[in-house]
Amino acid sequence: MAPTDITKPAPPQHIAIIMDGNGRWAKKRGLPRTAGHAAGAESFRRIANYCRTLGVRYLTVYAFSTENWKRSSEEVAGIMKLLRRYLEEALQDMEKNRVCFRFFGDLSKLSPDLQKLCHDAEKRSEDYDVQVNFCLNYGGRDEIVQAARRFAEDVAAGKHNPEDLTEDLLSGYLYSADVPDPELIIRPSGEKRTSNFLLWQSAYSEYVFMNVLWPDFSPSDLDEAIEEYHRRNRRFGGT
Ligand code: FPP
Repeated sequence: MAPTDITKPAPPQHIAIIMDGNGRWAKKRGLPRTAGHAAGAESFRRIANYCRTLGVRYLTVYAFSTENWKRSSEEVAGIMKLLRRYLEEALQDMEKNRVCFRFFGDLSKLSPDLQKLCHDAEKRSEDYDVQVNFCLNYGGRDEIVQAARRFAEDVAAGKHNPEDLTEDLLSGYLYSADVPDPELIIRPSGEKRTSNFLLWQSAYSEYVFMNVLWPDFSPSDLDEAIEEYHRRNRRFGGT
Protein backbone atom coordinates (compact mmCIF):
# COMPACT_ATOMS: atom_id res chain seq x y z
CA MET A 1 0.00 0.00 0.00
CA ALA A 2 1.32 3.48 -0.83
CA PRO A 3 2.24 5.82 2.04
CA THR A 4 -0.84 7.87 2.95
CA ASP A 5 0.94 11.18 3.58
CA ILE A 6 2.92 12.35 0.55
CA THR A 7 4.47 15.20 2.53
CA LYS A 8 6.44 12.65 4.60
CA PRO A 9 9.51 10.84 3.26
CA ALA A 10 8.89 7.17 2.46
CA PRO A 11 9.30 4.92 5.49
CA PRO A 12 12.01 2.26 5.58
CA GLN A 13 10.90 -0.75 3.56
CA HIS A 14 11.99 -3.12 6.34
CA ILE A 15 11.60 -2.41 10.07
CA ALA A 16 12.63 -4.90 12.75
CA ILE A 17 11.57 -4.73 16.39
CA ILE A 18 12.76 -6.35 19.62
CA MET A 19 9.44 -6.47 21.50
CA ASP A 20 10.94 -5.90 24.95
CA GLY A 21 9.49 -4.81 28.28
CA ASN A 22 6.38 -7.00 28.61
CA GLY A 23 7.48 -8.39 32.00
CA ARG A 24 8.22 -4.95 33.47
CA TRP A 25 4.91 -3.60 32.15
CA ALA A 26 3.08 -6.41 33.99
CA LYS A 27 5.14 -6.02 37.18
CA LYS A 28 4.34 -2.30 37.37
CA ARG A 29 0.66 -3.25 37.44
CA GLY A 30 0.98 -6.19 39.84
CA LEU A 31 0.01 -8.60 37.06
CA PRO A 32 1.58 -11.93 36.04
CA ARG A 33 4.21 -11.80 33.28
CA THR A 34 1.83 -13.58 30.90
CA ALA A 35 -0.51 -10.56 31.13
CA GLY A 36 2.41 -8.45 29.90
CA HIS A 37 2.88 -10.76 26.92
CA ALA A 38 -0.85 -10.60 26.15
CA ALA A 39 -0.62 -6.80 26.13
CA GLY A 40 2.53 -7.16 23.98
CA ALA A 41 0.61 -9.26 21.46
CA GLU A 42 -2.03 -6.48 21.25
CA SER A 43 0.70 -3.94 20.71
CA PHE A 44 2.09 -6.09 17.91
CA ARG A 45 -1.35 -6.18 16.21
CA ARG A 46 -1.58 -2.38 16.39
CA ILE A 47 1.90 -1.83 15.03
CA ALA A 48 1.55 -4.41 12.22
CA ASN A 49 -1.64 -2.63 11.08
CA TYR A 50 0.05 0.73 11.30
CA CYS A 51 3.00 -0.52 9.24
CA ARG A 52 0.52 -1.53 6.56
CA THR A 53 -1.03 1.94 6.45
CA LEU A 54 2.45 3.50 6.30
CA GLY A 55 3.50 1.30 3.38
CA VAL A 56 6.24 -0.63 5.25
CA ARG A 57 6.86 -3.80 3.25
CA TYR A 58 8.58 -6.05 5.83
CA LEU A 59 8.15 -6.14 9.61
CA THR A 60 10.41 -8.54 11.50
CA VAL A 61 9.67 -9.16 15.18
CA TYR A 62 11.58 -11.04 17.86
CA ALA A 63 8.79 -13.14 19.39
CA PHE A 64 10.82 -15.94 21.05
CA SER A 65 14.57 -16.39 21.22
CA THR A 66 16.66 -19.55 21.51
CA GLU A 67 17.40 -18.35 25.09
CA ASN A 68 13.75 -17.78 26.07
CA TRP A 69 13.30 -21.52 26.84
CA LYS A 70 15.07 -20.76 30.15
CA ARG A 71 11.93 -18.97 31.39
CA SER A 72 9.35 -20.76 33.55
CA SER A 73 7.28 -23.39 31.75
CA GLU A 74 4.17 -21.33 32.56
CA GLU A 75 5.56 -18.23 30.84
CA VAL A 76 6.76 -20.22 27.79
CA ALA A 77 3.34 -21.89 27.49
CA GLY A 78 1.67 -18.45 27.78
CA ILE A 79 3.72 -17.00 24.91
CA MET A 80 3.08 -20.08 22.73
CA LYS A 81 -0.66 -19.81 23.42
CA LEU A 82 -0.67 -16.17 22.31
CA LEU A 83 1.19 -17.05 19.13
CA ARG A 84 -1.20 -19.92 18.40
CA ARG A 85 -4.22 -17.68 18.91
CA TYR A 86 -2.74 -14.93 16.77
CA LEU A 87 -1.87 -17.29 13.89
CA GLU A 88 -5.29 -18.96 13.96
CA GLU A 89 -6.94 -15.55 13.61
CA ALA A 90 -4.43 -14.38 11.02
CA LEU A 91 -5.03 -17.46 8.87
CA GLN A 92 -8.75 -16.61 8.80
CA ASP A 93 -8.22 -12.94 8.02
CA MET A 94 -5.26 -13.13 5.66
CA GLU A 95 -7.01 -11.74 2.61
CA LYS A 96 -8.76 -8.98 4.55
CA ASN A 97 -5.62 -7.90 6.44
CA ARG A 98 -3.28 -8.34 3.46
CA VAL A 99 -0.50 -9.57 5.77
CA CYS A 100 1.62 -12.62 4.94
CA PHE A 101 4.10 -14.53 7.05
CA ARG A 102 7.58 -16.00 7.20
CA PHE A 103 9.19 -17.64 10.20
CA PHE A 104 12.85 -17.23 11.10
CA GLY A 105 14.16 -19.83 13.53
CA ASP A 106 14.32 -23.54 14.27
CA LEU A 107 10.63 -24.44 14.35
CA SER A 108 11.33 -28.14 15.05
CA LYS A 109 11.40 -27.43 18.81
CA LEU A 110 7.85 -25.99 18.79
CA SER A 111 4.77 -28.11 19.49
CA PRO A 112 3.47 -29.99 16.42
CA ASP A 113 0.25 -27.94 16.26
CA LEU A 114 2.14 -24.64 16.33
CA GLN A 115 4.56 -25.94 13.69
CA LYS A 116 1.57 -26.80 11.51
CA LEU A 117 0.09 -23.32 11.94
CA CYS A 118 3.43 -21.77 10.94
CA HIS A 119 3.71 -24.00 7.87
CA ASP A 120 0.09 -23.31 6.86
CA ALA A 121 0.60 -19.56 7.24
CA GLU A 122 3.79 -19.66 5.17
CA LYS A 123 2.21 -21.85 2.49
CA ARG A 124 -0.75 -19.51 2.11
CA SER A 125 1.42 -16.42 2.04
CA GLU A 126 0.81 -14.57 -1.17
CA ASP A 127 2.42 -11.33 -2.08
CA TYR A 128 0.35 -9.21 0.32
CA ASP A 129 1.06 -5.62 1.39
CA VAL A 130 3.09 -6.47 4.49
CA GLN A 131 5.26 -9.49 5.18
CA VAL A 132 5.64 -10.23 8.88
CA ASN A 133 8.74 -12.24 9.70
CA PHE A 134 8.22 -13.89 13.08
CA CYS A 135 11.48 -14.83 14.80
CA LEU A 136 10.56 -17.94 16.76
CA ASN A 137 13.12 -20.05 18.57
CA TYR A 138 15.49 -17.69 16.79
CA GLY A 139 19.06 -16.71 17.57
CA GLY A 140 21.35 -14.73 15.27
CA ARG A 141 24.38 -16.90 15.97
CA ASP A 142 22.32 -20.06 15.59
CA GLU A 143 21.06 -18.79 12.22
CA ILE A 144 24.65 -18.31 10.98
CA VAL A 145 25.68 -21.76 12.28
CA GLN A 146 22.71 -23.40 10.52
CA ALA A 147 23.58 -21.58 7.30
CA ALA A 148 27.25 -22.62 7.52
CA ARG A 149 26.21 -26.21 8.20
CA ARG A 150 23.90 -26.29 5.18
CA PHE A 151 26.61 -24.81 2.97
CA ALA A 152 29.07 -27.47 4.24
CA GLU A 153 26.49 -30.15 3.40
CA ASP A 154 26.21 -28.77 -0.13
CA VAL A 155 30.02 -28.85 -0.43
CA ALA A 156 30.06 -32.47 0.77
CA ALA A 157 27.33 -33.29 -1.78
CA GLY A 158 29.45 -31.73 -4.56
CA LYS A 159 27.01 -28.85 -5.21
CA HIS A 160 29.56 -26.19 -4.20
CA ASN A 161 33.29 -25.71 -3.71
CA PRO A 162 34.49 -23.99 -0.50
CA GLU A 163 35.84 -21.06 -2.52
CA ASP A 164 32.34 -20.38 -3.93
CA LEU A 165 31.35 -18.88 -0.59
CA THR A 166 30.61 -15.16 -0.76
CA GLU A 167 28.49 -12.87 1.41
CA ASP A 168 25.66 -13.14 -1.12
CA LEU A 169 25.84 -16.91 -1.22
CA LEU A 170 25.84 -17.21 2.57
CA SER A 171 22.90 -14.77 2.79
CA GLY A 172 20.91 -17.21 0.69
CA TYR A 173 21.32 -19.89 3.37
CA LEU A 174 19.93 -17.67 6.15
CA TYR A 175 16.29 -17.74 7.29
CA SER A 176 16.02 -14.29 5.74
CA ALA A 177 17.03 -15.40 2.22
CA ASP A 178 15.41 -13.02 -0.33
CA VAL A 179 14.36 -10.51 2.35
CA PRO A 180 16.25 -7.19 2.18
CA ASP A 181 18.18 -6.23 5.32
CA PRO A 182 16.27 -4.02 7.78
CA GLU A 183 17.12 -0.34 7.48
CA LEU A 184 15.75 0.33 10.97
CA ILE A 185 15.83 -1.80 14.14
CA ILE A 186 13.86 -0.57 17.14
CA ARG A 187 14.37 -1.73 20.71
CA PRO A 188 11.90 -0.32 23.21
CA SER A 189 12.10 -0.70 27.03
CA GLY A 190 15.32 1.23 27.58
CA GLU A 191 17.68 -1.73 27.06
CA LYS A 192 20.56 -1.03 24.69
CA ARG A 193 21.66 -4.45 23.46
CA THR A 194 21.17 -6.40 20.25
CA SER A 195 20.46 -9.68 22.16
CA ASN A 196 21.43 -12.02 19.31
CA PHE A 197 18.85 -10.47 16.94
CA LEU A 198 19.56 -10.38 13.16
CA LEU A 199 23.34 -10.34 13.70
CA TRP A 200 24.17 -10.75 10.01
CA GLN A 201 21.34 -8.63 8.60
CA SER A 202 21.94 -5.66 10.93
CA ALA A 203 25.42 -4.86 9.59
CA TYR A 204 24.25 -1.44 8.34
CA SER A 205 20.92 -1.04 10.15
CA GLU A 206 20.14 2.09 12.13
CA TYR A 207 19.31 1.22 15.74
CA VAL A 208 16.77 3.32 17.62
CA PHE A 209 16.49 2.60 21.37
CA MET A 210 13.42 3.95 23.12
CA ASN A 211 12.33 4.17 26.75
CA VAL A 212 8.73 3.05 26.26
CA LEU A 213 7.80 -0.53 27.26
CA TRP A 214 6.58 -2.67 24.32
CA PRO A 215 2.92 -3.01 25.46
CA ASP A 216 2.73 0.82 25.56
CA PHE A 217 4.45 1.25 22.18
CA SER A 218 2.08 3.27 19.99
CA PRO A 219 1.93 4.33 16.34
CA SER A 220 3.29 7.74 17.39
CA ASP A 221 6.36 5.98 18.90
CA LEU A 222 6.87 4.28 15.54
CA ASP A 223 6.56 7.68 13.82
CA GLU A 224 9.21 9.03 16.23
CA ALA A 225 11.59 6.13 15.46
CA ILE A 226 11.11 6.62 11.71
CA GLU A 227 11.75 10.37 12.06
CA GLU A 228 14.97 9.62 13.98
CA TYR A 229 15.96 7.19 11.21
CA HIS A 230 15.42 9.89 8.56
CA ARG A 231 17.58 12.32 10.54
CA ARG A 232 20.54 9.92 10.41
CA ASN A 233 23.01 10.07 7.59
CA ARG A 234 23.49 6.55 6.28
CA ARG A 235 26.96 6.23 4.73
CA PHE A 236 27.50 2.43 4.43
CA GLY A 237 31.20 2.84 5.25
CA GLY A 238 31.68 5.63 2.69
CA THR A 239 32.26 9.33 3.41
C1 FPP B 1 10.50 -9.66 25.85
O1 FPP B 1 9.99 -8.98 26.99
C2 FPP B 1 9.40 -10.34 25.18
C3 FPP B 1 9.37 -11.68 24.89
C4 FPP B 1 10.45 -12.60 25.25
C5 FPP B 1 8.19 -12.29 24.25
C6 FPP B 1 7.56 -11.47 23.18
C7 FPP B 1 6.23 -12.04 22.90
C8 FPP B 1 5.12 -11.35 22.63
C9 FPP B 1 5.05 -9.88 22.47
C10 FPP B 1 3.84 -12.07 22.44
C11 FPP B 1 3.93 -12.89 21.18
C12 FPP B 1 2.69 -12.95 20.45
C13 FPP B 1 2.42 -12.28 19.31
C14 FPP B 1 1.13 -12.55 18.68
C15 FPP B 1 3.34 -11.30 18.68
P1 FPP B 1 10.40 -9.48 28.44
O2 FPP B 1 9.43 -10.51 28.86
O3 FPP B 1 11.83 -9.92 28.44
O4 FPP B 1 10.21 -8.18 29.28
P2 FPP B 1 11.08 -7.72 30.54
O5 FPP B 1 12.48 -7.45 30.02
O6 FPP B 1 10.39 -6.46 30.97
O7 FPP B 1 11.01 -8.81 31.57
